[in-house]
Amino acid sequence: MSPAPGGALGALEASGLGQAMRQWLWLYPGVETVHIVGIGLLFGSIAVLDLRLLGFSRHLSARTLAKHVLPWSAGSFLLIVPSGLMMFSAHASDFIDSPVFAIKMGLIMAAGVNAALFHTITFRTADVWDSEEMRKLPPPPSARAAGAISLLLWISVIACGRLLAYF
Ligand code: HEM
Repeated sequence: MSPAPGGALGALEASGLGQAMRQWLWLYPGVETVHIVGIGLLFGSIAVLDLRLLGFSRHLSARTLAKHVLPWSAGSFLLIVPSGLMMFSAHASDFIDSPVFAIKMGLIMAAGVNAALFHTITFRTADVWDSEEMRKLPPPPSARAAGAISLLLWISVIACGRLLAYF
């Protein structure tokens, strides 16, 4: 446990939200459940696209699949971020002191960078490598790398989230 926190983190912990998160028996577990439902939606939707980028299910167009799943991935943040911030408010100074929390945030940013690079570079050429003819071949190495890195990063984020309870 850290000494009594001051500043913005102390104010967050002392806020009505922070107090309610610590004191109302069902609030923290309820919010944590929302966080996990969001994580399920995020990881489930991203993983099917990542597996397609690795070369599985090539009878499906990667562009059609992306159009179907990515809005769900984006929408999942509406569940994940507010619930994460609510849990953060309960023990803000402990979370800030935790190396696992810093690693988790860094990994989330890295996953964002990986997705942004994929969309601005590799996905732009999808009309070539995702055409019906070209789908007989595995996707290009940059698409396979983006899929593999995305899976590894999101699995690591989930592991760090779970480890927060211990470190
Ligand atoms: C974006 C992807 C994210 C994923 C995949 C993720 C994953 C997880 C997982 C698996 C848990 C453990 C749940 C449990 O043990 O029951 C967790 C807990 C938590 N997450 Fe996230 N998280 C994400 C984003 C965030 C964000 C943006 C915040 C905001 C600050 C956050 C803050 C927390 C906090 C405070 C906990 C509670 C730890 C505890 O009470 O033990 N998470 N997260």
